[in-house]
Amino acid sequence: MFLLGSGGKHFEDELRNMGAEILEAEIKRFPDGEKYVRVMGNGEEATVVSSTFYPQDEKIVELLLLGDALREKGFGKLKLVVPYFAYSRQDRVTKEGEPISVRAVMRALGIYYDELYVFDIHNPETLRFFPGKAVNVSPARVIGEYFRDRLEDGLVLAPDKGALERARAIAEVLGLEYSHFEKRRISPTEVEMHPVDVDVNGKNVLIVDDIISTGGTMVRAAELLRKLGAKKIYVSATHGVFAEGAIERVSGAVDELAVTNTIPTPVSRISIVPELVKLG
Ligand code: R5P
Repeated sequence: MFLLGSGGKHFEDELRNMGAEILEAEIKRFPDGEKYVRVMGNGEEATVVSSTFYPQDEKIVELLLLGDALREKGFGKLKLVVPYFAYSRQDRVTKEGEPISVRAVMRALGIYYDELYVFDIHNPETLRFFPGKAVNVSPARVIGEYFRDRLEDGLVLAPDKGALERARAIAEVLGLEYSHFEKRRISPTEVEMHPVDVDVNGKNVLIVDDIISTGGTMVRAAELLRKLGAKKIYVSATHGVFAEGAIERVSGAVDELAVTNTIPTPVSRISIVPELVKLG
């Protein structure tokens, strides 16, 4: 039985079409801005779904209230699916006095939820901060299937070595070769990105990352691939965080930009619901 927080409402129609049972809840705001939630149904187990995109803090508080309400009603087992986990990039102390923000959020959610499922979390090691079972769900299959027809005889590239595993997983779905870009210093003041050990000339290329924010990484990679003679250039990511103007910037530099719907955006054309429905 699924319960959808306000960061999960955009999955509702597709989940229902796939036969998922949805537990009704009222979610609104008091006039002073505080959240109010009320869970309607009853049961033993529930899977709460909410992606914590902007306004992130509000959605996190809502998840705490929903967890409390479900426990109050006597639910015994609670799973939590957070397709896009806010604060996941704040995973280390860089200046004395800072928190490890992702740890704070995971610990707080762990008070109520037994299991946590996140799609393509920025740093999978941070899942250890959740007190219960925590799983990183891969969107490789849904991303791969979306690009299958477009990539015949192409290749998959990660924008940096750290993102190589994602490119490998998608390439494996499609039976294609994969590699990554690396930064090469060409003079004391100039650094150039370059794809490692692959020839992109005349090939269709998919570049994949976990997050697109300003779009700078993808635009630089795409411009380079054009210079190297790539045929069609496709760009994808799990989470379209998209700063102001980023969709236009990236779309203008490539043949197609399509991200998953962990965050609803105008280019969230790849649905994670076929993976989500398995977690109910
Ligand atoms: C960085 O660690 C992430 O994996 C992405 O590469 C980054 O967030 C992309 O940022 P932008 O779109 O601003 O270049």
